[in-house]
Amino acid sequence: MSEEVLGLDQAYSVKTPDDNRRLYAQWAATYETSFVNAQQYRYPKAIAEVFNDVVGPVKRVLDIGTGTGLTGMYLSRLRPELVIDGMDISPEMLAQARGKKRNDGSVVYRAVYERDLTQHVPNENSPYEALFSSGTFTHGHLGPECLRNLLPLLVDKGWFVVGVNNEHFESKGFSAELDSLVNQKLIQSPEIICIDVYESGSLHFGDQARVIITRAINSIQ
Ligand SMILES: C[S@@+](CC[C@H](N)C(=O)[O-])C[C@H]1O[C@@H](n2cnc3c(N)ncnc32)[C@H](O)[C@@H]1O
Repeated sequence: MSEEVLGLDQAYSVKTPDDNRRLYAQWAATYETSFVNAQQYRYPKAIAEVFNDVVGPVKRVLDIGTGTGLTGMYLSRLRPELVIDGMDISPEMLAQARGKKRNDGSVVYRAVYERDLTQHVPNENSPYEALFSSGTFTHGHLGPECLRNLLPLLVDKGWFVVGVNNEHFESKGFSAELDSLVNQKLIQSPEIICIDVYESGSLHFGDQARVIITRAINSIQ
């Protein structure tokens, strides 16, 4: 597979964590030029904007499926006071994220961690006050069963702002999993909103994602 042809078709055809590792190892260097810029992908910016609108004052936050670090970069512009860490399965994508800079020239991410989020997620830091995610809950990446892997990463009432591809949300049963997490008193009743994933000039304009907005209930930590 040459770098030139990597795009949505390849991203949606992966099935396993190893497929993801291989895809993003090849794509990391050109992800922003060949996809984000070329397709006018605005998902990272949209998630940063939703986070800024809904989340109250917090300090330490986590970017789930960090990729090349665009979501953290946009969020750091809206909330310069945030300490942002990242987790992703791909060391090559995280290497790109390490280079992202804030408006003041400092790095966006305090630290980034290679983690497979389909499994129990080791966290060497104290729990975070909020987490956010763009583009990672999608076909062949993370399914609804992975939502609960993220909850131990949060403090009690920690914010959860997670984008999910629209078709993936329907076909994989995210609603049922969210109901189950509410019934088990692991999260507060979520609000779900829709965002545009691409700018109005893009060929893909009209594609939307759902954003799950809720708070973790972690009474024992
Ligand atoms: C489409 S990119 C989105 C990156 C970034 N958030 C953005 O919006 O530009 C999806 C990301 O999910 C990561 N990913 C895929 N499977 C994963 C897994 N099992 N655990 C952690 N990260 C995973 C990939 O490495 C990739 O960086």
